[in-house]
Amino acid sequence: MSGGAVGRAFPRLEGPAKVTGTARYAVEYPVDGVTYGWAVPSAVVRGRITRVDTAEALASPGVLAVLHHGNAPRLAPGPERELWLLQEPVVHYRGQYVAVVVATSLEAAREGARLVRIDYDAGPHSTVLADDHPGLYQPDHVNPSYPTDTAEGDFDAGYAAAPVRVDATYRTPAYHNNPMEPHATTAQWRDGRLLVHDSTQGASPVRATLAELFEVPPESIRVVAEHVGGGFGSKGYAKAAVVLTALAARHVDRPVKLALTRQQLFGPIGYRTPTIQRVRLAADTDGRLTAICHDAISQTSTIREFAEQTAVYTRSMYAAPHRRTTHRLVRLDVPTPFWMRAPGECPGAYALESAMDELAIAVGIDPVELRVRNDTAVDPDQARPFTSRNLVACLREGAERFGWTDRDPTPRARRDGRWLLGTGVAGSAYPARARPSTATATARPDGSFLVRINATDIGTGARTAIWQVAADALGVPPEQVEIHIGDSELPTAPLAGGSMGTASWSWAVIRACQALREKRRDNPGEVTAEADTTDEVGGQPALPRYAYGAQFAEVRVDADTGEVRVNRMLGVFAAGRVVNPTTARSQLIGGMTMGLSMALHEEGLLDERYGDWVNHDLATYHITGCADVESVEAYWLDEHDDELNPAGVKGIGEIGIVGAAAAIANAVHHATGVRIRELPIRLDKLI
Ligand code: MOS
Repeated sequence: MSGGAVGRAFPRLEGPAKVTGTARYAVEYPVDGVTYGWAVPSAVVRGRITRVDTAEALASPGVLAVLHHGNAPRLAPGPERELWLLQEPVVHYRGQYVAVVVATSLEAAREGARLVRIDYDAGPHSTVLADDHPGLYQPDHVNPSYPTDTAEGDFDAGYAAAPVRVDATYRTPAYHNNPMEPHATTAQWRDGRLLVHDSTQGASPVRATLAELFEVPPESIRVVAEHVGGGFGSKGYAKAAVVLTALAARHVDRPVKLALTRQQLFGPIGYRTPTIQRVRLAADTDGRLTAICHDAISQTSTIREFAEQTAVYTRSMYAAPHRRTTHRLVRLDVPTPFWMRAPGECPGAYALESAMDELAIAVGIDPVELRVRNDTAVDPDQARPFTSRNLVACLREGAERFGWTDRDPTPRARRDGRWLLGTGVAGSAYPARARPSTATATARPDGSFLVRINATDIGTGARTAIWQVAADALGVPPEQVEIHIGDSELPTAPLAGGSMGTASWSWAVIRACQALREKRRDNPGEVTAEADTTDEVGGQPALPRYAYGAQFAEVRVDADTGEVRVNRMLGVFAAGRVVNPTTARSQLIGGMTMGLSMALHEEGLLDERYGDWVNHDLATYHITGCADVESVEAYWLDEHDDELNPAGVKGIGEIGIVGAAAAIANAVHHATGVRIRELPIRLDKLI
């Protein structure tokens, strides 16, 4: 690769189209004869539908059809029971879609939905997670495919024998994904073929799921996701909206647009499970960890098992001779929880990095030094050296930049008028993985190049990053390169998820560009080269590859009211090569801000009587706004790791949130002397 574009700050290629409103999202494509769908959620938690009365709805102006289990097109009963919608008169959780109204206008569809009468025979339900729930069980594995439990040494003996111990239980509530663009779809059937414009993190997986459900060959389905207004994991696979829209379009034999409402995003799109996490740490008097145990409890639904990998972070972060992690799950009458930015690592790091702070106080060692002292070059889980581990360098540089040195560890020691001041630190880590992908590169007669890959840019800047990588791989200025993404007709590629996008896509793009340069030696005309990294990615040795970070926060807490404000957050990350400083910074500070939101604001409150979220809009479910964020700074080390992928990247979409909430919670303790172990930290818990 000749250097040049990678490492330089480019604005997003699609930026002008987005800010001028010409970039089209899933329901913004003009379609002749289009109709509008409105989804009807169930009004009970669990039970059977005994009657659907559509007469009034059908008589309402503009209403074309009401789909429900009695008349909807049939779906194949595949493994995805969650997506087997409108197929049976059974309700598994409140908010499950039980009908769709299709009308000639959005307003008519909405009004029609209001007029659908559904009777239910409701049964008892259980919707609240508790650590003594009788239904607790051990799943087969946790997301995506980790073992549920691990054990080395003898934790109980090691813990009992240690001079210093911490035993603390942390709780996190449900968190709801709220991308700017809701889950939304335009679907059109023509001659047995299905064209879908969908708001998704991966058009290829959506196509595969639709093919299975509708029993049509994948080649008969095209999924376009050119611009996507965020997802945070909730759009990682096909969800209800795309299935309902395709069903409705088939039923009325006309194109249908359907977008979930903001309120409906607090429904079956996936949310971060609540967790109950007991962490036990034991150490020598010099702070060296001797025993670590992390027991995590989370919930899933009755129709699909999603087991968050909450304690997996603890397996590799710090070393100790005696170690144990467990995951237990409860099936509740709730929508299935799913991915939300750093599933597992995010809530897990909140617990472990909080417990490390408690240990630092118990031992009487600075919390940065405690982490440095327990650093390890060898992954305690895989018993192999990390390909690169710059946690200590992040902690040192962060401490320097933040002004950590000379910190008085005494709680309530610093004051500024009525404000108590405190600072906190936390470690951060996220696995650096890659998946197989394909891509093509074409040299055109006019000297320009075209790179094609079904990557997805959910607002991260991925399109621009791959374009930069392609230019360097071709050895040409990026202005000569055009890139096409976000369409299942393009070469198949994995979804935007797990912070794997840039690593996976750039790998295939680099190989395609290299192959093109090879081919062009003999043929100077229009030439296309293809790449498929399946063998290369699959053949990579299974080494522990992680990005690391150090999160610092300073808070002020009103001594009278308990109001918490975050003065500043500062993160230093080691994430391999940074392709585009502008978009990378945006990902990192976005993650950190979401961590602030988790620490202080967000909380899904479920009312057991109704089995439903009480706060289901942005007025009552508080997400950190600009006024809550006073200063967020992200830095990164110049890290080179040759055992990753050809672009040398580790992924940055998720690491920014990992540890951020713990840094704030630790700072709140430092400011007040009060340890809140149940997020969010609200003033009523502090006074
Ligand atoms: Mo992310 S939660 O892996 O889309």
